[in-house]
Amino acid sequence: MSNRKTLTTGAGIPVGDNQNSITAGSRGPVLIQDFHLLEKLAHFNRERIPERVVHAKGTGAYGYFEVTNDEISKYTKADFLSEKGKRTEMFARFSTVAGELGSADTVRDPRGFALKFYTNEGNYDLVGNNTPIFFVRDAIKFPDFIHTQKRHPKTGLKDPNMVWDFWSNSPESLHQITYLHGDRGIPATYRHMNGYGSHTFKWVNAEGEQFWVKYHFISDQGVKGLDTDLAAKLAGEQPDYHRQDLFNAIEEGNYPSWTLYVQIIPYEDYKTYKWDLFDVTKTVSKKDYPRIEVGKMVLNRNPENHFAEVEQSAFTPGNLVPGIEPSPDKMLQGRIFSYGDTHRYRLGVNHQQIPVNRPKVEVNSYQRDGYMTVNGNGGGAPNYEPNSLNGPVEDAAKKAAAFEVYGEADSVAYNSDDHYTQPGDLYRLMSEDERARLVKNFADHMRPVESDEIKLRQIGHFYKADPEFGERVAELLGLSVPAGVK
Ligand code: HEM
Repeated sequence: MSNRKTLTTGAGIPVGDNQNSITAGSRGPVLIQDFHLLEKLAHFNRERIPERVVHAKGTGAYGYFEVTNDEISKYTKADFLSEKGKRTEMFARFSTVAGELGSADTVRDPRGFALKFYTNEGNYDLVGNNTPIFFVRDAIKFPDFIHTQKRHPKTGLKDPNMVWDFWSNSPESLHQITYLHGDRGIPATYRHMNGYGSHTFKWVNAEGEQFWVKYHFISDQGVKGLDTDLAAKLAGEQPDYHRQDLFNAIEEGNYPSWTLYVQIIPYEDYKTYKWDLFDVTKTVSKKDYPRIEVGKMVLNRNPENHFAEVEQSAFTPGNLVPGIEPSPDKMLQGRIFSYGDTHRYRLGVNHQQIPVNRPKVEVNSYQRDGYMTVNGNGGGAPNYEPNSLNGPVEDAAKKAAAFEVYGEADSVAYNSDDHYTQPGDLYRLMSEDERARLVKNFADHMRPVESDEIKLRQIGHFYKADPEFGERVAELLGLSVPAGVK
């Protein structure tokens, strides 16, 4: 007798025939009473869920974070960072931004670097990128920006006209696009890229002291880029190149790791620092605020099921544990809304009950019901608060720190319009070889743009960052830097 399990329906009913549907006679029509056939077809029709509106293509793995510095509790009371040697289980997902679920990995695009720490005080998510900066600095511009990265409404094609129209009219993007068209714009693998929190966050210690913090996850494999021509070839031949590389490395026991460093910025410095600390298009100098080692992240286990664990994973900048708080960065504030909202749409209101998203600690909330409640729904325990029934209560020690605000409520622009110094510094930091590749990448990307006005406006931005930068892109495009810019 075979020791194979008997096939069942979703309801666990043994299936008698999985090859032939029930028909009226050998050549007759199919009977609607074949409930196994009906269920099989209907379930199949519902296999796809909405893909992420951005960062649709990605891959993930489990691992741990271990603290290597005993001094971190000076800056934050976050329990998982409290002492050297402390380990916290993690899940990480890496992704491209603009492409759809089936798109190629080796494109020029930022890479998502999303981390979930299953801490003793609930899940902490750090939803960063492999670049320390971003294209825009106010969430109100994000949907417009992403529309330009996706497909043209008429042609259904990627469209450089939209891309460069938007970027040339949004000079705050110059820093990020200079980063993106350089050697780090296409990572060799997900293992060979750094991760950044990008925004400034706030840490609060046990005494209530507040600090601003920037996160840098530095790849222990080193940072390596992919040659542009090889990337194009791989995009055709092995579009899942980065997914495959991470999976294989972990399967072979070649566990990738990253060392986490932070820059700690005294609270009062935000009033006087030369750059707006809450402007995500700017970096904070390592000379002003040196990096301090915090710990190591190691990825050592592949998911058992890609859909269940990677596709259904849900990260949000709104998952912050005591001791870690947002800064007033306008982008970060917008993101705190956006992610939970999209999870409710993409996965449903009870997405936090899905195993990959479920905290390792007990959940004691008064939330009840909703589609797909699978956690017992609180049983007969009280579902309201305040109550006299010994239900869970708040803990004032876990309250977010108070901070001062001032000014009038208004649609206010950032104070600084210097979009040029930092990208210019980045250009000047590059070797001559890298500069040559950078300007070529820009020219190749901009060449198909139909309007010279758009190209010239963008060349003006390059020129303002560094005259040589502007002149070189202009020359490759057969144009001249506009006189008005010089
Ligand atoms: C206001 C600006 C932004 C908005 C509104 C926004 C919105 C979104 C949305 C709706 C998703 C899909 C989430 C999902 O379906 O699970 C997403 C994914 C993601 N975003 Fe953003 N985003 C913004 C800026 C940023 C920035 C600045 C970063 C990095 C510093 C970033 C990193 C990511 C990452 C890594 C993912 C993928 C998460 C995953 O792997 O599931 N986003 N974003």
